[in-house]
Amino acid sequence: MSATDLISPYADEVLPKNVSAETVLSVHHWTQRLFTFTCTRATSLRFENGQFAMIGLMVDGKPLLRAYSMASANYEEQLEFLSIKVADGPLTSRLQHLQPGDKVLIGRKPTGTLLLSSLKPARNLYFFATGTGLAPFLSLIRDPMAYDLCERLVLVHGCRAVGELAYHDLITEQLPRHELIGELVRDKLVYYPTVTREAFRNTGRITDLIETGRLTADLGLAPLDAKHDRAMICGSEMMLADTKALLLARSFVEGHSGRQGDFVYEKAFAEK
Ligand code: A2P
Repeated sequence: MSATDLISPYADEVLPKNVSAETVLSVHHWTQRLFTFTCTRATSLRFENGQFAMIGLMVDGKPLLRAYSMASANYEEQLEFLSIKVADGPLTSRLQHLQPGDKVLIGRKPTGTLLLSSLKPARNLYFFATGTGLAPFLSLIRDPMAYDLCERLVLVHGCRAVGELAYHDLITEQLPRHELIGELVRDKLVYYPTVTREAFRNTGRITDLIETGRLTADLGLAPLDAKHDRAMICGSEMMLADTKALLLARSFVEGHSGRQGDFVYEKAFAEK
C-alpha cells in the first residue's frame, strides 16, 4: 500500500467490511446520458450472471452505494457496469466523472432475481430490457447455461435514441466471434433493438411490440406462449409493471429461487 493509499478515504481501515475498493480501468461514454466503466475485481467476489451488487463512492467520509447489475460475465477477470448520468443524482452525478485509476466501491454480496435457475426450460427465452436494464443481460448472453435452457435467446433492448443502443456492436459483431460462446451466439441469439424517439429499423416501446404481436411477427416467431416461452425483464418501474402485466395476462407464472416459473424481473436501479 502506498502513502497516498493510507490517507485516502479508500484506505481499508475506513471502508465498511461489506465493500472492497476497486480500481477503475476504463470509462466509455456512449451518450450524454449513458456511460460504461470497467474496474478490477476482488478475487473473492463470486456472482451469478444476471445479479447486481451495491456499488458507489465514499462521499463525505461515508459510502454512497446503489444497486448496479454486473454487465460482465462471472468468468471474466474485470467487472463492467452500465450507468445513466443524472445531473443532480447523488451518486451518478459523481460517478460520471470517474477516470481510469480512480477507486470505486463494490459490494461483496451480489444478489438478484434474474437467475436462470428460476426459469423452466424454454423454446424461446426473451430478455426484455429498457435503458440501463440491458446490463444484466449482457452478463447472461455470455453465459453458456442461458443457451442450454432454450432453443433460442431473444434479446430485446428498447431505448429513446439510436445512440443509446449501447453494446450494439458487441452483440452483433464481437460476440459471434467470442472464443467461448461465439458458436452459441451465432446459433441461438437473436437481437432486437428498438428505438422510441428517433427513426430506426425497429421502433416502438417493448410493451407495444408485445401487445400488437409485432415483435414476434418481425422475428418470424410464434406469438408469446407461456407453454414454451420464458422471459426476464429489467427496466424502469413502469416498464416492469407494464411488461409484467402483459405476461401475466398471457398466463406466464413468476419464477422464484426454489420454484421455477415462466418469468422473472428486476428493477433497473436507475437513479430517479
Ligand atoms: P418512451 O420514449 O416512449 O418513453 P428511459 O430512458 O426513460 O428509461 O426509457 C428507455 C426506453 O423505455 C424508452 O424507449 C422509453 O420509451 C421506454 N419506456 C418507458 N416507459 C416504458 C413502459 N412503461 N413500458 C415500456 N417501455 C417504456
